[in-house]
Amino acid sequence: MIQHCPTPTELDDLELLVSGAYAPLTRFNEQGSPVTLTLPDGAAEAELVDPEGLPLARVAADGSLEPLTHAQYGPFRRLHLTPAQAREQHAGATWVPVVDALTEADLDDLRGRGRVVLLALMGTGTSALSPVALVRATLAASDLLDDASAVAVPLPSHGDAEADHALGTQVVGTYAGGDPVHALPSRWLSSERSERVETDSFPDTIAAIVDEDQPTPEEQGLVLFFTGLSGSGKSTLARALMDLLLEQGGRSVTSLDGDVVRRHLSAGLTFSKADRETNIRRIGWVAAEIARHGGVAVCSPIAPFAETREQVREMVEAAGGAFFLVHVATPLEECERRDRKGLYAKARAGEIPEFTGISSPYEEPDDPAVRVDTTGRSIEDALDDVLVALDEAGYLHLTRTDG
Ligand code: ADX
Repeated sequence: MIQHCPTPTELDDLELLVSGAYAPLTRFNEQGSPVTLTLPDGAAEAELVDPEGLPLARVAADGSLEPLTHAQYGPFRRLHLTPAQAREQHAGATWVPVVDALTEADLDDLRGRGRVVLLALMGTGTSALSPVALVRATLAASDLLDDASAVAVPLPSHGDAEADHALGTQVVGTYAGGDPVHALPSRWLSSERSERVETDSFPDTIAAIVDEDQPTPEEQGLVLFFTGLSGSGKSTLARALMDLLLEQGGRSVTSLDGDVVRRHLSAGLTFSKADRETNIRRIGWVAAEIARHGGVAVCSPIAPFAETREQVREMVEAAGGAFFLVHVATPLEECERRDRKGLYAKARAGEIPEFTGISSPYEEPDDPAVRVDTTGRSIEDALDDVLVALDEAGYLHLTRTDG
């Protein structure tokens, strides 16, 4: 049987299926259910493992589960109660689903309702806050109430507001048993998730948690990802941008240039489709870690495949970073005319197989943050287009200081 590490959403679903929170649903891939699991390459059954390889459950061909171990680590693990455990501790309370930090008004609304259990619905993508911050904010809220407890429920979003709302209502009902459920007026699940509430409507302790979780654009990690053909000017533009960043100071900057990465991080990889994807995912993984720590990563590989670039965006955003895609759209004819490394000539002569643009595809991005064609332009001039777009997006405010 193969081992498979599910996505974060699938891992959340697994926990809720096994804990009974999704009852009567107990398996993946029931007809019409958003709770799905995709196994690799048509496998019918698998042992599901967490990212560290700990076997969590076996899934059979019909989607049914045989639990093996519970996840044992992770912040606030002790607050992850099954519905049965939660009811044992808190039966008779009022159950309150929480998907965002609670405001003063929310707390006022809860005062005088007797004993309340705040169910922090902290699964992947459900709250605008990170899962840990949602639980921290919920604990801080319970401290401000007379008789409140917090329970963490990893209810994830499945990308469909209506289905999420229906499933969420069902899960909260399962936790509540027959007890009253109180939905806060301000927000309840993603279907009604509004713009982020101003922090001044939060009590101080909660505002501090929200602030810490939402870095300002100057503090947020940033991945500047230049994609384009060999010889399009990616590295030169990326280098010039890095220099500007270093001259201005205030940010830590890491370069992940295509050719440089291939000498170190990706040494030994070929230019096959599979190896190129591996190469880009490695860059994405490192860039996401840099972003997690608030740094700026400047990446400049060819990255010819749209799907892999999208995976990088997802990794970066999951790490709390911003992803800014620059398409260096210098046409093939111009790249080939420059042929600074003489590689196009070799590729045309058949000496280099699978050469991007000649014998291997380049999928143009259709949603770049900015597109620059360097044909007939100076680097400074072309860089200005990038700087203007970065400035407008609010990520970086750089100006060229000539001379
Ligand atoms: S990617 O496709 O995996 O993103 P990457 O940016 O790392 O490519 O490497 C591209 C560089 O490798 C080019 O700038 C060029 O110098 C060199 N190179 C060698 N062989 C090839 C090839 N077959 N296709 C493209 N670039 C190649």
